[in-house]
Amino acid sequence: MQYDPIVYLLETPKYHLVKLDKVNVFSGWVFNFGIQKVTSLNVYADEKLIDNFMVNLPREDIAIYIPSIPAVKTCGFSFELEVAKTINSLTFEIVFDDQSTELFFRFDITNIVNQQEYFNKLNQRLALIPQPEPELIYLTQGHYNVAEYRNSIISGVMNLHKYLQHSGVDLNQIKTLLDFGCGSGRLLVGWHLLSPHIELNGCDFNPNLLDWVQQNLTKQVTCIENSFAPPLPYIDDKFDLIYLVSVFTHLSLDVQKLWIQELKRVIKPGGYILITLHGEIYVRNGFWQEPDKIQQFLMEGFAESGSDNGSNYYASHHTPDFIKQIMQGFNLVGYFPNGTIDKQRTSFQTAQSQDIYIFKHEV
Ligand SMILES: C[S@@+](CC[C@H](N)C(=O)[O-])C[C@H]1O[C@@H](n2cnc3c(N)ncnc32)[C@H](O)[C@@H]1O
Repeated sequence: MQYDPIVYLLETPKYHLVKLDKVNVFSGWVFNFGIQKVTSLNVYADEKLIDNFMVNLPREDIAIYIPSIPAVKTCGFSFELEVAKTINSLTFEIVFDDQSTELFFRFDITNIVNQQEYFNKLNQRLALIPQPEPELIYLTQGHYNVAEYRNSIISGVMNLHKYLQHSGVDLNQIKTLLDFGCGSGRLLVGWHLLSPHIELNGCDFNPNLLDWVQQNLTKQVTCIENSFAPPLPYIDDKFDLIYLVSVFTHLSLDVQKLWIQELKRVIKPGGYILITLHGEIYVRNGFWQEPDKIQQFLMEGFAESGSDNGSNYYASHHTPDFIKQIMQGFNLVGYFPNGTIDKQRTSFQTAQSQDIYIFKHEV
């Protein structure tokens, strides 16, 4: 199997929002895209098993996207747990219906203790920045959950930092970046808080999203509305980093190829492009009633479906070989299948279970 079959979201608490020496509500959902069913979660404080919590709450909101797996209907969990400052780590383990177990993910509590003051400051600064309305959030995230949107801003960019660092990118060398398909500026706000020295640019073709950004985030970022297809109004070789989070996942192949050429023009020689893509697990879910389509994807490396190119109703899927082939002029320097780093799941994600790729523009 080329993909991680465990699909999940820890909604609360995101890493930077863990309250030390206090009771935290751990809530979210998890299911296995395989035969065994996830039934509960074991929790360990350091190496000691401290509790077991059921995974059985109804999550119709998730089930509508995963029609192929009946267990998703009850994949929710929510439990209270005190997080003591004195422990080093909190480890979550998945328990399947055959009683087998596997590591889910780990929280480094020592790191949270050390960064507590910094995280508090970030959270206070974030609270002063305007948030979009639920209807606008739905356009980019596919849900109306304002708290999930807000809490994903810092955690999402902390994850982007990790992917870049694991790919050998020196974050100090990034002076200017472009968030292509920035939506309502979710991740740009995270960069503004975490890396204030970077010149932050964003672009998107949806005027509703761009109008909101231009009215509400003028102090933080510079965003422009682009046309559906190139060009962009930037000079050659402008950016050290361009990232596209959940953008090529909703664009047809012909348009992606045009944008790759244009991004090559505006990225500096030696600069990096980070792209998130739907991989095999999304194909197996999206085409679960069309096995021929799945086979075709595995052989040809690409599949697309849906309508309204550029919106969440359009879905593109890539294999690693395929994206490498169309990213001509770039070298792959980082690949994080389903968002995992060194085969370990992160406690929060940037783009759900999408694959994350980092390419370097070689001269
Ligand atoms: C799923 S949303 C992700 C938004 C944002 N990257 C985030 O993670 O919050 C995809 C975004 O890509 C934008 N998009 C799609 N096609 C585009 C294009 N041709 N040019 C610019 N933006 C595009 C959409 O308008 C939408 O804002």
